[in-house]
Amino acid sequence: MTLTVPTRKPPTTTEPVFSVSGLWKVFGPKADRIPGDPELSALDPADLRARTGCTAAVRDVSFDVRKGEVFVVMGLSGSGKSTLVRCLTRLIEPTAGTICIDGEDVRAMDGGRLRELRRHRAAMVFQHFGLLPHRTVLDNVAYGLEIQGVGKSERRERAAEFVAKVGLEGMEKRRPEQLSGGQRQRVGLARALAVDPEVLLFDEPFSALDPLIRRDMQDEVARLHSEEGRTMVFITHDLTEALKLGDRIALMRDGRVVQLGTPEEIVGSPADDYVREFVRDVPREQVMTCRTAMRPRTPEDAETGPAVRPEATVAEAIEAVARAGAPARIMDHGKCLGVVDREQLLDVVAGVSTATAPTPSGATVPTASADGAAHASADGHAAEAPDTAPDASADGHAGVAAGSRAGVAAFSRAAEAARKGAGAARKDDPGHARAKPSAGETPGKHRQATPPAPRTSPEGPRTSPEAV
Ligand SMILES: Nc1ncnc2c1ncn2[C@@H]1O[C@H](COP(=O)(O)OP(=O)(O)OP(=O)(O)O)[C@@H](O)[C@H]1O
Ligand SMILES: [Mg+2]
Repeated sequence: MTLTVPTRKPPTTTEPVFSVSGLWKVFGPKADRIPGDPELSALDPADLRARTGCTAAVRDVSFDVRKGEVFVVMGLSGSGKSTLVRCLTRLIEPTAGTICIDGEDVRAMDGGRLRELRRHRAAMVFQHFGLLPHRTVLDNVAYGLEIQGVGKSERRERAAEFVAKVGLEGMEKRRPEQLSGGQRQRVGLARALAVDPEVLLFDEPFSALDPLIRRDMQDEVARLHSEEGRTMVFITHDLTEALKLGDRIALMRDGRVVQLGTPEEIVGSPADDYVREFVRDVPREQVMTCRTAMRPRTPEDAETGPAVRPEATVAEAIEAVARAGAPARIMDHGKCLGVVDREQLLDVVAGVSTATAPTPSGATVPTASADGAAHASADGHAAEAPDTAPDASADGHAGVAAGSRAGVAAFSRAAEAARKGAGAARKDDPGHARAKPSAGETPGKHRQATPPAPRTSPEGPRTSPEAV
């Protein structure tokens, strides 16, 4: 699995936009009786269907969507994702529970208020675009504004602005059939953005797109998040997409949320075997942060050593430690919070960490997982590792495959190679200290070919121990 997790801004607020509590959606005859009946509501989906003919698509779900966050809902097909997101604006009428937007009870809204909610406050982007086939791109984008009652010239002007914003300038007069799938989805996105909603709701918007276009669109969403601070609810069944985009992820199974947490919490502390299975191939070092991996500083630890920020990924710390040949200090506003040395980093890579990870409740749980050995990366780097040590990348990443023992072994050799090579390479170009790849290794295919943006502290360059 290739994963480049973008730099995440720490959440600035926990103020909820949507607040959902005890939500149920049951399809079928006399659906209303299910949520309040302890016996029926406890049945598994097959038994419930057999006994009552009902499907509980959403079962007792509670969560908040915080202002400015990307809240991802993830799960396999049929787990209830679309039903859940449609309940938020009552495109599907919930069976029980409460939904509030900015404190206002959505279930109590009358027709007019509900229209206002859908037209102004929460805009949806659909998987199959939902464009009007006989309208031009410009008129499709202007559609939401038209419904809002915005005058023709103003809405066309605003629509043109958003057409340009999503990169479709020059295509205003085309009809949907004259566009590629990716371009159609950009129209869908522009249409949602044009109404300037408080929340954007995406129901698997990119699953019909090919991988490259999909990545472009994901980058667009990441940009909307980081630059414009948009609040988004994003549904996907793609874990890579969820980890890339989500500030928090709700993982659904059979209508229930089985775990809700940050990508790091989900990957580092899976709540059960289902979640563990879901995340088993994730390159942990690219998701786990130093805040989780670090140990307390001891008197034996040197005052020097590379400084990395608590939010830096373990992959970044590996690079810093490998280059410096010394443990890294986890620095936050000039204060040393702890230390990561090879042991902690290896534990994370191998998935056998005994470090503690924060949970949503604020308690901590061990991240121990004995299954690391079984998780060799499918991209083959783990298998390459034992023979490729001399050619290891000088940035310390080579052979560090997710959760594999081969990756663990390779780490030591890569670190050694990095230390030897880094000094010379750094003089020339600190950002590109990379030895040539081994025979058979395709540089562009390497998992770390696009390393995440640096997240090291302002106290000093991440690769320069003497600077701190
Ligand atoms: N109108 C309906 N009537 C009866 N059952 C329904 C209805 N809509 C959805 N369901 C059922 O509810 C469950 C959840 O469906 P939902 O569409 O929310 O799943 P999903 O997670 O979005 O799946 P996918 O990834 O395939 O889109 C499924 O078992 C589905 O068959
Ligand atoms: Mg769906």
